Amino acid sequence: MRLLFIGDVIGRAGRAAILQDLPRLKSAWSLDCIIINGENAAGGFGITESICTDFLDAGADCITLGNHAFDQREALVFITRQPRLIRPLNYPSGTPGGGAALVETQKGERVLVINVLGRIFMDALDDPFAAVERELSVCPLGAACDAIVVDFHAEASSEKQAFAHVVDGRVSLVVGSHTHVPTADHQILPHGTAYMTDAGMTGDYDSVIGMDKAEPMRRFVTKLPGSRMEPAGGQATLCGVAVETDGQGLATRVAPVRLGGRLAQTWPDFWDDRNRS
Ligand code: FE2
Repeated sequence: MRLLFIGDVIGRAGRAAILQDLPRLKSAWSLDCIIINGENAAGGFGITESICTDFLDAGADCITLGNHAFDQREALVFITRQPRLIRPLNYPSGTPGGGAALVETQKGERVLVINVLGRIFMDALDDPFAAVERELSVCPLGAACDAIVVDFHAEASSEKQAFAHVVDGRVSLVVGSHTHVPTADHQILPHGTAYMTDAGMTGDYDSVIGMDKAEPMRRFVTKLPGSRMEPAGGQATLCGVAVETDGQGLATRVAPVRLGGRLAQTWPDFWDDRNRS
């Protein structure tokens, strides 16, 4: 199975990259399942129903969120009628929406997508390790589904790496989100789980983590409250990670994706027909 995870889409620039590139990538790479982190898609804070619909119409199969899940209040309502939009699993019980979704691909394969929040340098929440274990026990890889993707939305690399080793061999992909900076540690762990500490953001990298740089620079220098943070408006780099899995749902290939904008470009050349022998 061919999976693509796209990291945190930031504002209008990030949305434009998704709408422009995703249909083409889905067809060119014969993608079976596309997951997008959309928690910053609406002006940098949260997601609206129309943006969620646009992403699904562009080819996304599932949209994950994070600590900004409900910054747009309308998400509290529409998440209850959109099963392909999920919020972190370890929010308190009673939080609207679900933390996991079982997505069926066009070929009829089932992909379990889980979104969970880390706890290091983040708000206090339920234990993400135990929360994911409960999901995996209900829907184990190879028995109840053909692939499992965990979007671990967290600040600390150590927490993401420890989590990935705990579930290594039981999950197809663990990918980090939230820091908005892509890491260079994409790999297949010893027991077959693909891993990348952070997919990076889909936004303008001439910025401070996707936001127009003037306001955060001013805040760091003066320490005084100022105006609202606004997303940077230059061309976005679409960032993510591409994974191919085998019949057991474990990873056989992993590659970072960086397309457009300012960052050095990279893509999974093993899906480029010109590179096939
Ligand atoms: Fe976040």
